[in-house]
Amino acid sequence: MGAIRTFLSLFFFASAVCAQVTVYFQQPLNAQTSASSADAASYTGAAAYNPTVLNPPPIPDPLPPMQFGIQLQNGGTTGVSIVQSGSFVGFSIEMSVTDQTLGKNSSYIQVPFLNLMANLQQRAGGVYVRVGGNTQETAVHVDSLPDGKMIQKDNQNTTNPTQTPPLDYTDDLFYLMRGISELVNIRWFLGIPFFNIDPFQLAIAEQSQAILGDLLAGFQAGNEPDLYVRHGHRTDPYGPSDYGNEFGALVQAMGNDANAVNKRLLIGPSIATGDWFPEDVWNTDFVDTYSENLAFLAVEHYPSDNCYAVYGTGTPRDAQTMFPTYLNHSSGQSIIQPYVNSGNYAQQKNKKLLMFETNTASCGGFPGISDSFGAALWGLDYSMQMAYSNFSGALMHIGGQNVFYNPFTPPPTNQSTFHQWTIGPIYYSALIMAEAMGASNASQILDLNANDGNIFTPAYAIYENGNPVRVALFNYITDSSGASTYIASISIGDGESGQANGTPAQVKVKYFTADSVSQKGNFRWAGQTFGGIFESDGRLMGQEDIQTVTCDQNANNTCLIPVPAPGFALVFLNDEAFTETAGASSMTFATTALTKTVNTATVDQAVLSTSNGHSGMKDVLGSTSKGSQNGVVGLRTSGLLPTAFAIGAIMFVRTWVR
Ligand SMILES: *[C@@H]1O[C@H](CO)[C@@H](O)[C@H](O)[C@H]1NC(C)=O
Ligand SMILES: *[C@@H]1O[C@H](CO)[C@@H](O)[C@H](O)[C@H]1NC(C)=O
Ligand SMILES: *[C@@H]1O[C@H](CO)[C@@H](O)[C@H](O)[C@H]1NC(C)=O
Ligand SMILES: *[C@@H]1O[C@H](CO)[C@@H](O)[C@H](O)[C@H]1NC(C)=O
Ligand SMILES: *[C@@H]1O[C@H](CO)[C@@H](O)[C@H](O)[C@H]1NC(C)=O
Ligand SMILES: *[C@@H]1O[C@H](CO)[C@@H](O)[C@H](O)[C@H]1NC(C)=O
Ligand SMILES: *[C@@H]1O[C@H](CO)[C@@H](O)[C@H](O)[C@H]1NC(C)=O
Repeated sequence: MGAIRTFLSLFFFASAVCAQVTVYFQQPLNAQTSASSADAASYTGAAAYNPTVLNPPPIPDPLPPMQFGIQLQNGGTTGVSIVQSGSFVGFSIEMSVTDQTLGKNSSYIQVPFLNLMANLQQRAGGVYVRVGGNTQETAVHVDSLPDGKMIQKDNQNTTNPTQTPPLDYTDDLFYLMRGISELVNIRWFLGIPFFNIDPFQLAIAEQSQAILGDLLAGFQAGNEPDLYVRHGHRTDPYGPSDYGNEFGALVQAMGNDANAVNKRLLIGPSIATGDWFPEDVWNTDFVDTYSENLAFLAVEHYPSDNCYAVYGTGTPRDAQTMFPTYLNHSSGQSIIQPYVNSGNYAQQKNKKLLMFETNTASCGGFPGISDSFGAALWGLDYSMQMAYSNFSGALMHIGGQNVFYNPFTPPPTNQSTFHQWTIGPIYYSALIMAEAMGASNASQILDLNANDGNIFTPAYAIYENGNPVRVALFNYITDSSGASTYIASISIGDGESGQANGTPAQVKVKYFTADSVSQKGNFRWAGQTFGGIFESDGRLMGQEDIQTVTCDQNANNTCLIPVPAPGFALVFLNDEAFTETAGASSMTFATTALTKTVNTATVDQAVLSTSNGHSGMKDVLGSTSKGSQNGVVGLRTSGLLPTAFAIGAIMFVRTWVR
């Protein structure tokens, strides 16, 4: 009923708005609000708008060869990944920020969010979104909250060992999610609270199944359990078999709960690969024991952390020094390395392996890295590397205003009347990944080890039904002189004869560009952009620019594709490969009106100091145990200061199909 209510009320508002389109309260930009990026920090101070711009790494010396061949075959290519879908990259939204990101409650859906998801649906057919993270672990179902809220931190009730305030939520969160899925094709992951499991709190499974039904893709059972001891949620010793036993207790509890309808949706072990390796869990027979209940296997990982800057504990890391470690092909490869075996293990067990939560670095990422064009190239290469290594999906994490790495960030609450959203590099990675993998559900990807494996010029080919359809070409170098623009000569042979010419007469190319790997915002994908900070309603802006390259079908049988430094090119080898993803019709949602909210939100310092368990967790941060590189990986969300009092931007929606 609630879903229908949401749906109808949306369209009720839609028609009301159509009837009076002139009611438009958006405030004009003035000197204060149209801030340059340098002013942005003083304007809000929030990490999401931090103006730090790093220096791009120097041009490699020696320069990689600037012309190299890529020989592909129709049929008979070995080493390709398992079959993948275009919805490979999805998002992980911290439960405590859903009221900013998804909508205030089921009456108010965030229109930019709908547009961002519709862009992906257009290319991939659908999107997976997880609502969870640390804040799911203490989530408590309540019947109602004041002021029509669907979530709220319960700061009066911090009974758990780390003083993390429970996050209270109502059924309306699930009605909101359902309302969103009526408009865009999203399937959802949730998590069952795992800090206090005696007894398990199954309300989230009961209510969400009743409201979301088939829109639910799975329930995470435990978020980074290998860090539970370190963060004070379990007492030492607590190992993989203890986790397995608790998982078993959950299976039993759900078995005894007639309202937890589908008991086969569980996801585990979701380790951070901090204190345990995946094999430590696989070796306990976890997968065979609970195979019937396991919908997916999952891990979570961040390649580094910026915890020292946030908490003063752990290893200090300088963003400028770290920058080059994100700007080459080894980065994604080295993140994946501990999971290659698990990708094959999952196949043996007939399960799919997910990277359930990831991003550039835990504790919010790095200023100047996580929000740079370089991070977009990194995120795309890393995603392709995961797909190549037989993961079946990856969820990019979204914290709040106080992290650097958000794929997208709604404006701070008190600016929602005159600012729009800020689209980060990782959203571009997701968009381009969707387009590269396509909507066929039949794509397979191969790391081509291009240019003799040079780490600055990696390339992948995407196959459908055994034939190459798209080629992805990266250039990590920043060089405005043009001397580092490389040319890939792509030829396609016929696997049967070994020599027949499969090179097409022409190919289409979409470029992803910026002036430098350091650039923040205004990245161009086929000429279009989501702009700079506060500039996006979730729709691409500008004229689309698709290049056509004529190939040589006579002498050399090659298509010569230049790739600028820095840049990325997606080459569509035939028309079908192009229309499948780039030619699909788009659906957009326009913000026809914004309410003129009163800018009177105030910050209660007491609320802030306890939000997300900040103060209570300080004492357990200094760990030097195994995996301490990701020491406080579980605490990265704690900087979400405005969430405790957030009021989402209130927008009405009107839909049309272009
Ligand atoms: C959403 O919040 C508004 C007030 O902020 C309230 O009027 C409305 O009833 C709420 N919607 C639901 C479904 O609770
Ligand atoms: C505190 O939270 C627990 C669950 O974590 C709940 O059972 C209890 O009723 C809450 N107490 C208050 C005063 O809200
Ligand atoms: C490439 O990335 C790897 C992994 O992050 C890093 O260790 C290495 O230093 C980087 N290479 C260069 C030349 O920057
Ligand atoms: C991925 O799985 C396929 C199919 O089983 C296999 O051929 C390939 O070697 C695997 N890839 C990696 C990187 O292990
Ligand atoms: C929004 O709130 C923040 C934090 O309280 C404050 O620093 C900022 O000045 C406010 N901005 C506006 C435009 O009211
Ligand atoms: C691909 O898979 C998704 C999700 O399972 C499904 O919704 C979609 O219809 C499939 N597309 C095709 C072309 O089969
Ligand atoms: C074929 O390739 C050779 C060597 O790269 C080059 O010299 C020649 O100009 C090419 N021929 C044509 C017709 O492009």
